[in-house]
Amino acid sequence: MNENDSERIAGLLVEDGMVPTDSAEDADVIVLNTCCIRENADNKLYGALGNLKSLKADRPEVQILVGGCLAQKDKDLIQQRAGHVDVVMGTFNVHRTTELLAQARVEGPVMEVLEAAVLDENELFPTGLPTDRAVDYQSWVTIQVGCDNSCAFCIVPAVRGPEISKPFGDLVAEVEGLAADGVSEITLLGQNVNSYGRDLALRLRSADHHFEEREFERIAGAEWTHGDRRARPLFADLLRAVGSVEGIHRVRYTSPHPKDLRPEIIAAMAETDSVCEHLHLPLQSGSDTVLAAMHRGYTAERFLDKVRLARAAIDDLAITSDIIVGFPGETEQDFLGTLEVAAEVGFDAVYTFIYSPRPGTEAAEMVESFVDHAVAVERMERLRAVVERSSLRANQARIGRTDEVLVEGVSKRNPEMLTGRTRHNKLIHFPSSSKIRPGTYAKVEVTDASLNHMLGELIEITHPARHRTKIPVLAAGPQ
Ligand code: 5AD
Ligand code: SF4
Repeated sequence: MNENDSERIAGLLVEDGMVPTDSAEDADVIVLNTCCIRENADNKLYGALGNLKSLKADRPEVQILVGGCLAQKDKDLIQQRAGHVDVVMGTFNVHRTTELLAQARVEGPVMEVLEAAVLDENELFPTGLPTDRAVDYQSWVTIQVGCDNSCAFCIVPAVRGPEISKPFGDLVAEVEGLAADGVSEITLLGQNVNSYGRDLALRLRSADHHFEEREFERIAGAEWTHGDRRARPLFADLLRAVGSVEGIHRVRYTSPHPKDLRPEIIAAMAETDSVCEHLHLPLQSGSDTVLAAMHRGYTAERFLDKVRLARAAIDDLAITSDIIVGFPGETEQDFLGTLEVAAEVGFDAVYTFIYSPRPGTEAAEMVESFVDHAVAVERMERLRAVVERSSLRANQARIGRTDEVLVEGVSKRNPEMLTGRTRHNKLIHFPSSSKIRPGTYAKVEVTDASLNHMLGELIEITHPARHRTKIPVLAAGPQ
């Protein structure tokens, strides 16, 4: 979500006439977009700001902007601790980037942190903003902002607000626009994508809103308008709709919440060819006691049920996850539950985290039951060992198979090799004598596999890249 916000901030700056640069020394504006999901974000931010102090002293006209979740949370603290920051803006202020920079040029340091999203004229979703995408053939698509859950460890609801879904028709139009631009892979983004549209459905049913029939279709899609008003997850319809936009070859999404992963969503994944056979399903813990204390709304068995359902419906499915160790009160027994579930699922990969207290969250208050850091570190190592076994096994199981690869470019380690990602989102390197443009789809036979990547041989190119290549503008305007 933060990366997507960064692309939007960049998009606004480019629209304002700025040109991206790789070096802080050349920059007129430096943006630090922060995340506060786990600790260290503060340390990193103040470290980075410290490094920029001399640059700002040498060239006072350089503007430094701090945005994102940490700015939302710590507001004044940033200006107190780093007086050389020109603009502090919150997560709901992205659309104000260029105005705030202009204001600071005239008035000196400004801080603007809104407490809620500014909705569009129909009070539906924060107004769309231009994006300066990092890559031309792949794009994030934010389908929902905020989160209505209250996981005890998580700061997101406090910094991103309640769930707001982007209207269905607007999303389909956005994806059609991206496809027309040459994008072939999209990743639908939200904090709990499978509850996408719950707020839209509520609005449609609520008596205080009178939408015309045409508006119904824009908000919730044609399926809703034409009779079928059952409480079916709109996310399933959305997957089918964006997945059948011409030119969209791959659809990914992140992250679903296990408690809301309904059979209709799994069916939509299974039946929509472009939706990748990859499910990122955050487990967080394999202990029912810990899951209850986290307010996750499922048990280990329910999680395993969802995995079984998904595997039965979707052939050759990769499953990845997020797991936290050392949540307050986690016992050795609880942790063994996590190891068991991890081993039973046989995840393709897992992001593992040591619990990090976030001030203001429920779990941060449970100081008496905090797990000793050394114990958490040791548990994390044991969990990683289990996950590494299943990751390696999953990668090695690909050897001899042919995977579809989206080529990302020349390998950083070996210029003779190309790098790309399979539909499972696994990294693969393969030699190629001819130049193949990033954004090309190819069939590659997997010849070898290790923990973090696979090696392969090019079989054939299946779809050439469609996007236009951007020509970087190094000097613009009169000399
Ligand atoms: N401590 C550790 N990990 C956390 N995550 C979220 N909040 C915390 C926290 N306070 C992890 C969760 C989530 C992922 C994005 O970050 O596993 O799924
Ligand atoms: Fe945080 Fe839970 Fe919402 Fe995910 S679902 S963003 S972990 S509160």
